[in-house]
Amino acid sequence: MTDELRHGEARPQDRPVLVVDFGAQYAQLIARRVREAHVYSEIVPHTITAAEVAERAPAGVIFSGGPKSVHVEGAPTIDDSIYDLGVPVLGICYGAQLIAAQLGGQVARTGRGEYGRTTLTVSEPDAVILADQPERQPVWMSHFDSITGPPPGFTPTASSPDAPVAAMQDVARRIHAVQFHPEVVHTPHGQAMLERFLYDVCGCPPSWTMTSIIDSSVSAIRAQVGDGRVICALSGGVDSAVAAALVHEAVGPQLTCVFVDTGLMRLGEGDQVVETFHRHQGIELVHVRAADRYFECLAGVTDPEDKRKAIGELFIRIFEEAAGGISDARFLVQGTLYPDVVESGGGTGASVIKSHHNVGGLPEDMDFELVEPLRNLFKDEVRRVGEELGLPAEIVWRQPFPGPGLAVRIIGEVTPERVATLQRADAIVREEIRAAGLEREIWQAFAVLADIRSVGVMGDERTYGHPIIVRAVTSEDAMTADWARLPHELLERVSSRIVNEVPGINRVAYDITSKPPGTIEWE
Ligand code: XMP
Repeated sequence: MTDELRHGEARPQDRPVLVVDFGAQYAQLIARRVREAHVYSEIVPHTITAAEVAERAPAGVIFSGGPKSVHVEGAPTIDDSIYDLGVPVLGICYGAQLIAAQLGGQVARTGRGEYGRTTLTVSEPDAVILADQPERQPVWMSHFDSITGPPPGFTPTASSPDAPVAAMQDVARRIHAVQFHPEVVHTPHGQAMLERFLYDVCGCPPSWTMTSIIDSSVSAIRAQVGDGRVICALSGGVDSAVAAALVHEAVGPQLTCVFVDTGLMRLGEGDQVVETFHRHQGIELVHVRAADRYFECLAGVTDPEDKRKAIGELFIRIFEEAAGGISDARFLVQGTLYPDVVESGGGTGASVIKSHHNVGGLPEDMDFELVEPLRNLFKDEVRRVGEELGLPAEIVWRQPFPGPGLAVRIIGEVTPERVATLQRADAIVREEIRAAGLEREIWQAFAVLADIRSVGVMGDERTYGHPIIVRAVTSEDAMTADWARLPHELLERVSSRIVNEVPGINRVAYDITSKPPGTIEWE
């Protein structure tokens, strides 16, 4: 049993493909594309040594894109003994230039970089990863320097107008390189090229499937917790839901879930959590109805940070009370995802909770060992695992929702009446987005209740009511976001339904601020 396997994460038996991160956010997308080809991949920093790579016994290594030039001072590099390991290597963009530079080729500033779509011309019929590809095809480029002379042993296999060596290979050493980005959707044949590398060059079987993820995760959880008791705080979100379902699959009745119903969730959401986990999945559930306590503690609180703090602290107290009732619990499930692991430097040791966490902040002095079955998975994989485990689509495809709930979407004081108003407006926004078939394209769509009032007219009556602000954003990871260009007819339906169906609301505004400078939430 490896060290990692003790921590309950999904990890297949196959040798991984390592994606080397040169620091420009390309690595995650490449790792996902590899997994879409059903090959398990892991991201490693470029500071990894050849010996460390050898220890992982990878089936192949992919160098990701990075900064624009290998000639820039301090440009990241990699231990060049990696080329002597006999492990297949694919260099992409910066990674291709690095291979050229390290193995004795020429990378030059030609004065003509290429950015965006360009045409690739395949010049070598025996190009392994370009096999069976159209001779001319669109690819996505983003480079300033170009490889002008391949290293000894390499054959150029394709070119583009401004990259004389847009692809090259050394078949004997199993080293391949492409200047363009095969991982992006704008390179339509890119996925096929990655698959040629994975299947034909690395000899990987396409065996990383949902079943293999679940099987390996279930055995890892069993190995970690033995016959110990496990608790899991359900938030109503996708990650904690799938993590709980996986642990339940592994150790059944040893799992108890705690669901703190804050009264600040979306319309019907609390009931749905109970329905899904308790009735359908048969998971033991401690359902804490805490709405009254939350409203009491939020009375008179209007400052956004004070609200968040009050909610977080109350959550800790309630969770402690509930967990105290499960006295022999030794393990705590967390829905940590792979991007969090990569971004925080990627440790694999057993961690004990020390600080705030995404379930809404947990006690600092709780002495649980963490079970993190999603530690190696991307969000889309978590959703597919959830589907495979029979969780309903409404939970699996649920949009992200902040821990403090609707409280951070109510400007000013949070009262039961204002929460009820916002829940109704929010339900309309989500219903209409769903009816328009846009739910999965949009990262988050919701309503915000403002504490200003404006004059309106309904029938013959003058109104003086509150506005609802509709916020809908597209995003890849919530770090940046753009406001969604929703069809006007959809906005019209949302506006007219909210004003007609939600008492006290007489105006609807649409938030057209991207992030940055705005944030996704209003508080
Ligand atoms: P912002 O508003 O910072 O939000 O652009 C980025 C993403 O994080 C979510 N969010 C939270 N999630 N606890 C959470 O679990 C929180 O306190 C919290 N605050 C914001 C937000 O919905 C968006 O997806």
